[in-house]
Amino acid sequence: MRVLQRRFLGSAWFGVCGSQYHVWRCCSDLRVMTDTMTMPSLDQILAIYDEQAPLAEASTIPAPWYVDARIGELERLNVFSRTWQLVARTDQIEKPGQFVSMMLAGEPIVVVRGNDDVLRGFYNVCRHHAAAVVTQPCGKTTLLHCPYHGWNYGLDGSLKGMPEFEGVKNFDRGKNGLVPVRVETWECFVFVNLDPEAQSLQEFLGGLAPRIAPLGIGKLHHFDRKTYNIACNWKVFVDNFLDGGYHVPHLHKGLNSVLDYKQYTIENEDRYCLQSSPMVASVEDAATGATRKGGRAWYFWQYPNLMINCYAGYMDTNYVIPVDADHCSVIFDFYFSDVSEAARAYNEQSVHVGNQVQDEDLGICEDVQRGLKSRAYGAGRLSVRREAGEQLFHRLLAADLRNGARSSNVAAD
Ligand code: FES
Ligand SMILES: [Fe+2]
Repeated sequence: MRVLQRRFLGSAWFGVCGSQYHVWRCCSDLRVMTDTMTMPSLDQILAIYDEQAPLAEASTIPAPWYVDARIGELERLNVFSRTWQLVARTDQIEKPGQFVSMMLAGEPIVVVRGNDDVLRGFYNVCRHHAAAVVTQPCGKTTLLHCPYHGWNYGLDGSLKGMPEFEGVKNFDRGKNGLVPVRVETWECFVFVNLDPEAQSLQEFLGGLAPRIAPLGIGKLHHFDRKTYNIACNWKVFVDNFLDGGYHVPHLHKGLNSVLDYKQYTIENEDRYCLQSSPMVASVEDAATGATRKGGRAWYFWQYPNLMINCYAGYMDTNYVIPVDADHCSVIFDFYFSDVSEAARAYNEQSVHVGNQVQDEDLGICEDVQRGLKSRAYGAGRLSVRREAGEQLFHRLLAADLRNGARSSNVAAD
C-alpha cells in the first residue's frame, strides 16, 4: 500500500477519478489515502453507505453509486425490474387495439388493449427470431404483426399464424405466444412490473393513493409532453427533487416567489415523500404567479423514479429513466383541468414556466454529476430541516441494492 498523503476526513469513502479509484481507508483515527489502482468490489462500494444513521448524522449515498456502471446494472435488475414503472396514460390505450411500446429496464415491452377490453402487457420480442413485433411507440391495430418474417399474434398475445412453416415438427403454437408481463392501472396511469412475484400496484403505492385522492387528478386532461435528456445519473435528478425546497430560493427565483418557503413541509411514508408548501401571490414573476395557483403546492415522489406535482387545476408528472451511469431522460407530462382551445394560450404559458424551472434544474444536475466524479468529493451531509426525503430515497435504494447483491452472491456460491 503506497501512502500518498495523510488526511483526516469525515468518514471512510471512495473517491473516483476517471476510471481509477482512489481509496480512502480508515486507519485508526487517521484516514490514509492510498492509491490502490484496484477497483473496489461492488460489495465494498455498497458497504460505504450507512442507512442506520439518524438524519442528523446521515450522509448521502456515496459518489461511486452515481458513477459506477456496476451499480447501474444492479439497479436495473433489482430496482427497475422489480418496481411498478409508469409506461403510459390510460387515455392512450382506452380502445381495443390501441397499444404503446417502450423499453423498460432494457426490455422491449408492448401494452395493448384486447378486443375483450382487457389491458395486457407482453415482452415485445417475437418468438421466432427475437425481432420487435411492434415497432411504433403507439397506435391502433387489429393484429400484432412481426415485420421480420411475418408471424402474427392476436391482441391477447396468442400466436395466430406463421408463413411457410409447414413441415416443422414438435412445434406447439399454443406455447409460442408473446410472453406476458404484469400491467395494472391507477388513476390515469398505466404501470408495468417485470417481476411476476411483485406485490400489487396498490400495495406498492401504499399511502400515496389515498394521500393524493382528494386532489382529484383523475379530472385533469393531458395537454403536452416534454422529454429532457440530461447528462447526470438518474439519482441526481431525484435527489434534486427531494431536497425539501432547499435549492428553490437559490435556483428558482420565479417559483420561489409563489411559495411560502418557511412553511414548506416534508412527509415521509413507506415508499413516498410528499413535499408541500402554502402558496402566496407573486409580486415578482407574473407568468409564474398566473400559472401556479391554489392554496398549496403538492410535490409527490414515489420510489424510485416518479414525481407528481400539483397546483390548482394543474399536474405534471416527471418520470426519470436511467440511460447509463452519466445520463438519464426525464419525461414531463402536463395536465390541465381545461384543455379546450380557449385555454390553449394559458396552458402553453404554464408549460413554458415549467420548462424554465427544468432548465434551471438541468444545469445544476449536470454540474453535480461532474462534481461527483471529482477526487475532492465522497459523500455529503444532509440538512435535517430540508433533506429527509433524500434520506428516505437512499435508504430504500440501499435496501434493494443490498438484497439484490446478496441474492446474486448466493446464486454464485
Ligand atoms: S422474428 Fe418475428 S417473424 Fe421472424
Ligand atoms: Fe428544482
